[in-house]
Amino acid sequence: MKRVWRILLVLVVLLLVVLAGGYLYLSTFLPRVEAPDITVEVTPDRIERGAYLFNHAAACIDCHSQRNDNLFGHPLQEGTVGMGGHEWQMPFGVLRSPNITPAAIGDWTDGELYRAIVSGVNADGDALFPLMPWPNYAKMSREDIYSIIAYMKTLEPIENEVPDSEISFPLSLIMNTMPTEPDHQPIPDKDDLVAYGKYVVTVSSCSDCHTPMDDRGQFMMDQYMAGGNPFPQPTGGAAISMNITPHPNGIGDMSEAEFIHLFKMYSDSAYVHKPVGNGDFNSEMPWLYYAEMDTLDIKAMYAYLMSLEPIDKKHDRYDPEWTAAK
Ligand code: HEC
Ligand code: HEC
Repeated sequence: MKRVWRILLVLVVLLLVVLAGGYLYLSTFLPRVEAPDITVEVTPDRIERGAYLFNHAAACIDCHSQRNDNLFGHPLQEGTVGMGGHEWQMPFGVLRSPNITPAAIGDWTDGELYRAIVSGVNADGDALFPLMPWPNYAKMSREDIYSIIAYMKTLEPIENEVPDSEISFPLSLIMNTMPTEPDHQPIPDKDDLVAYGKYVVTVSSCSDCHTPMDDRGQFMMDQYMAGGNPFPQPTGGAAISMNITPHPNGIGDMSEAEFIHLFKMYSDSAYVHKPVGNGDFNSEMPWLYYAEMDTLDIKAMYAYLMSLEPIDKKHDRYDPEWTAAK
């Protein structure tokens, strides 16, 4: 009998050692992606392309600035570009967008900036939660990422101390296994609209909002772009992402011209500065930033989306009664 107890005790101790080792490994030795030794030359071409990506196609600006929640599309509050501080309440904690102006990250090396954008590891070596769409940026061309870095150096420095995101255990630990080396893809030829559109859709992270997630926070790829994700609004209710597959319940009946108009109409003054009261519909989609995208890019996104598997899902774009408990 005594022997059995002794064996059990040894097993328990072994188990604890394994667990402690696992914890130490995940918390101390991961993430393990090195910041490359690079210098990004700042050229006028890169600044121009970087501005387009930062402010429109990738809309970094939308998440990393202060928004005006009482206007349609949550437009920018003047003078807040890149200062961060936007919060997302998640089931596992609260995420906060950091200050990415030179006042906060001016002393990062180019390699550290690059690693944050494409691998999701900040200068302290901490993993970034993939609400920051680094898994998409990992598939962009290296040159596009360099353009973003070049443009970020031209941002007005703004002093703003943003507290760290708070992510509860065990996700805080699991997160450390996510960062990966980038898988840069070349920008496809613009004559191949579908392939080029796929690239633009990746840059713009359309799928992050338009592909539903399961209870574990994993994208349901068999429901790619079928919509249904709720985005709670500060003025009440939630915007629901729509089905943008080519099914009639998605964008199947939308012509290319209508699709382009849907994006472009938000540059019109009727939508810029449109007030939103409590209980009124507001969207989470960064329409006001996407509105300034090149028409060719919008056209290409349409071609790509129309090439997808049609999925029969129908959603209302706004649920005024939505609460987190649902
Ligand atoms: C959907 C919202 C969203 C978008 C779009 C977005 N970010 Fe982020 N970003 C975040 C959040 C949230 C974090 C912090 C994540 C965390 O705390 O784990 C972050 C972190 C970062 C960091 C790390 C800063 C630090 O101090 O740790 C950098 C750099 C960054 N983002 C740059 C960018 C760039 C450049 C783009 C566009 C190409 C971009 N982000 C687009 C939400 C976003
Ligand atoms: C931050 C989340 C978010 C992102 C990113 C996003 N969307 Fe949306 N989208 C929504 C939400 C929410 C709605 C529903 C409310 C509305 O119509 O504005 C929507 C609506 C739409 C609609 C209207 C469909 C209809 O039937 O009326 C289209 C088209 C669309 N999105 C396409 C895109 C494309 C293309 C991209 C990438 C360039 C994209 N979205 C990126 C959240 C997002």
